[in-house]
Amino acid sequence: MDPETALERLNQQHLEKLAQQEVPEIRPLLASPDPLKSLQELLQDRSTWYEEAHFTCSTRNKSAERIAQEIIAMFISSGELVADPHILHVRRIHVDGGYNTVVDWGGIGRIAQNLKLLGLPRRVFLITDSNIRGLYASMVSGTLQSYGFEPLLYTVPAGEASKSQDQLYALYDWFIEQRAERGEAILALGGGMVGDLAGYAAATYLRGVPLIQIPTSLLAQVDAAIGGKTGINHTRGKNLIGAFYHPRLVLVDPAALLTLPVRERTEGWAEVVKYGIILDTNLFAQLEEYAETLREFTHPPASLLCQIVTRCIALKAAIIEEDEHEHGRRIILNYGHTVAHALENVAGYGELLHGEAVSLGMVVAGMIAQQAGIFPEAELMRQNKLLKALGLPITYTGSVSVRDILSAMQMDKKVTGKQVRWVMPRHLGDVTVTAMPDDLIESVITAFFTEKRP
Ligand SMILES: NC(=O)c1ccc[n+]([C@@H]2O[C@H](COP(=O)([O-])OP(=O)(O)OC[C@H]3O[C@@H](n4cnc5c(N)ncnc54)[C@H](O)[C@@H]3O)[C@@H](O)[C@H]2O)c1
Repeated sequence: MDPETALERLNQQHLEKLAQQEVPEIRPLLASPDPLKSLQELLQDRSTWYEEAHFTCSTRNKSAERIAQEIIAMFISSGELVADPHILHVRRIHVDGGYNTVVDWGGIGRIAQNLKLLGLPRRVFLITDSNIRGLYASMVSGTLQSYGFEPLLYTVPAGEASKSQDQLYALYDWFIEQRAERGEAILALGGGMVGDLAGYAAATYLRGVPLIQIPTSLLAQVDAAIGGKTGINHTRGKNLIGAFYHPRLVLVDPAALLTLPVRERTEGWAEVVKYGIILDTNLFAQLEEYAETLREFTHPPASLLCQIVTRCIALKAAIIEEDEHEHGRRIILNYGHTVAHALENVAGYGELLHGEAVSLGMVVAGMIAQQAGIFPEAELMRQNKLLKALGLPITYTGSVSVRDILSAMQMDKKVTGKQVRWVMPRHLGDVTVTAMPDDLIESVITAFFTEKRP
C-alpha cells in the first residue's frame, strides 16, 4: 500500500468513528505534525523487507473483495499450489486426432510445463478479459517467459458484449500486426466468452491456428471449453456465427473458482445439475449430498471440486465422441435450453445469466415431462429442490409475455420441420428426445410464467 492510500484510510477510519460518536483509536502516525512524511519514512525503513517478497499486491483504489481475489489468484498462479494429495485427472477426447483435458488444482501456475509438452513455437498469443488480466494473466505471462516462451497479451473488455464481430476483427488486426504465423498458438484464458471468441479467432485466422483452452469459470470448465463449439454473437441472435474447432489442450484449474464471483459461480451449477439429470444419477446424488458446501463455498474441498468437474468433462466428452456435430445424441446436452434460450432472448440478454435461464428451463421441461406422464413427480421435486439448494432460481420473478416465449421457442435451433424436439427426462439420469403436444407446452408455460409457481 502506498503512503497516500494508507493515510487516506487512516483518516477515513478516524472520521467514521467520529461520525458514529465513538472515540477514535489513538494512531501515533496521525498525531505527528506531518503524517504523510512519517508514512513515507516508515515505508522507506521497511522497503528492504518488501523487496524480498515473492509476490506483491497493490491495494490502491481496490475494494476489499478485489484485493482478496488478487491474493488468492497470486497463490493459484504461482505454480506452488498443489492439492494434498496431488490431484491430476487427464481425459483424452478422441475427436480430431485426439487431445487431452487436464484437470489440475493449481494448474494455472503450471501452464508453461504443459505447453512445453506440445512442442509449440516460442511466441504464444494469450487472450483474456479485463477481469482476468489483473488476476491471472500477468502472472501466467511471467511464468511463460521463465519457461522460454514469448507471450503476447491481448485483453478484451469483460462481458458478453465482447463476443462480437468488432472484437473479433480487432483480434485479427492484432494478429496481422504481430505477423502471427500458422504454427503459433492462441491461449484462451477466461470464461466462456473468451473461450468462444478466441476459439473462433483461432479457427478462422489463417484457416486455423493451434488453440489452448484455459477455462476459468465453472460454466466454461464443465461446458463451454469442452466439445469444440466456438463462435460469436450476431446482433440478431446469440452464437449465430461459429465453427466446430477443437483445441490442442484444455487445461482446467478448479482452484480458479475460488475467485469467481458468487453469481457467476452459482449459474455454473445449473449445467452440472443438467449432467446429473440427463446422464448420471450418482453425480446427481453427490450434488444433493454436498449442495450446502457447494453453494456456500467457504472451504470447498479441492478433491470434491476436481472430482465433479472431471466427471462433467468425461460425460460431455463421451457424448462429443459419439456425435461431434450434433446430428443425434449431442442434443441431449440441450436439456432445459429450449425455454432458456427463449427466455434469454425475450427477457433480454443480461437480465438473467445463462445458467439461471437454464435452471428455469429445466424446471419447465421437467414439468412438461411430468404432466405428460413421462417423469415421476417425486423426481421432478428432487430436481427442483437441488437447483434451489445450490442457489439457482426455480421461479421466474420478472415479467415476460407468454406469447413471446412461445414464438421465441419456434426460432430455437432445435426446431426440425415445424416441431420443437424436447429433451425430456424419464428418470434422473435418463432422458429421451421427442416432440410434445402444443397444448401441453402452452399450458405449462402459461402457468409457469404467469403464476410463477414451479
Ligand atoms: N462453446 C460452448 O459450447 C458454450 C457452452 C456454454 C456456454 N457458452 C458461452 O459461454 C459464455 C458464458 O460463459 P461464462 O459464464 O464463463 O461467461 P464470461 O466468460 O463472461 O465470464 C463471466 C464473468 O466471470 C469472470 N470470471 C471468469 N472466470 C473468473 C475467475 N476465475 N475469477 C474471477 N472472475 C472470473 C469474467 O471476467 C466475467 O466477468 C456465453 O457466451 C455462452 O454463449 C459456450
